[in-house]
Amino acid sequence: MRSLLIKLLKPVGAVLFYLGYKPRKFHQTPFVRKALNNAYFDYYFYRNRSLTTEELNNKFWKEWGAEYLKSFNQTPIPKYYLREIENLIETKKVKTVFELGCGFLRHLEHLANKYPHLNLYGVDITPQIIDRAKELNNSRIQVFADDIRNIEKYQDILKKADLIFSYGIFAYLAPEDLEKVCGVIQKHFKGYVVYNDAAQKRDLSKLSESIPLSSQSYIHPYPAIFKKYGLEEIQSGYSQDKESFNFVGKQR
Ligand SMILES: C[S@@+](CC[C@H](N)C(=O)[O-])C[C@H]1O[C@@H](n2cnc3c(N)ncnc32)[C@H](O)[C@@H]1O
Repeated sequence: MRSLLIKLLKPVGAVLFYLGYKPRKFHQTPFVRKALNNAYFDYYFYRNRSLTTEELNNKFWKEWGAEYLKSFNQTPIPKYYLREIENLIETKKVKTVFELGCGFLRHLEHLANKYPHLNLYGVDITPQIIDRAKELNNSRIQVFADDIRNIEKYQDILKKADLIFSYGIFAYLAPEDLEKVCGVIQKHFKGYVVYNDAAQKRDLSKLSESIPLSSQSYIHPYPAIFKKYGLEEIQSGYSQDKESFNFVGKQR
């Protein structure tokens, strides 16, 4: 059913593309707008299929990241996810926090306001995160507009961080890139993690490899990958709608 729908959307996407349609308000939009946005992006990626993953990732986030994040920031942070992060901050000796794929800083802003003792770092590929950080003007938040695949560059932060968290970014990494990122984290970081990403109602412990989704994103077999890179599970589970997988762990 899903693949039939995707096939049907392709010609719609092509028409939208050539009519100069501008996808806006990616989230919390009426169903029709969402369907048009999906059709547009399916075609956008199909049209750019000759580009390398690297070019495609950079191109998409540079062109659409800010628009996407403006809309994404209006969605509430899931309570169960925030609870896990706050629980670690309140019960462990957490002073330095690093967010992978921090977007428009909604988590970092919340944590900076609630916990005045924290030093907060974030990295994200969408260039406009820097403008957002300037707006917040909080000296305890420092962000870098960079591709997470360059994470080795941030080894000093990884070494001093007590907690790393991410929400909805790993799905955008190709399987080999996700493994590379996890390998660098294992090499430099000792501490707690809270990771949340797409599950799309699947039992991820039964997956042996990543499943490509449309628009260059994936459902990854997180339990197996995290185990491979030395993450000890403290707790894991799914959101109520089973769309996301949440993992709390410790990197030793
Ligand atoms: C679904 S949004 C989540 C944003 C943020 N975690 C939040 O919850 O507000 C996905 C984010 O991943 C970032 N992203 C995608 N690919 C990336 C990459 N290769 N390196 C760094 N950030 C990336 C995008 O710029 C975007 O901000």
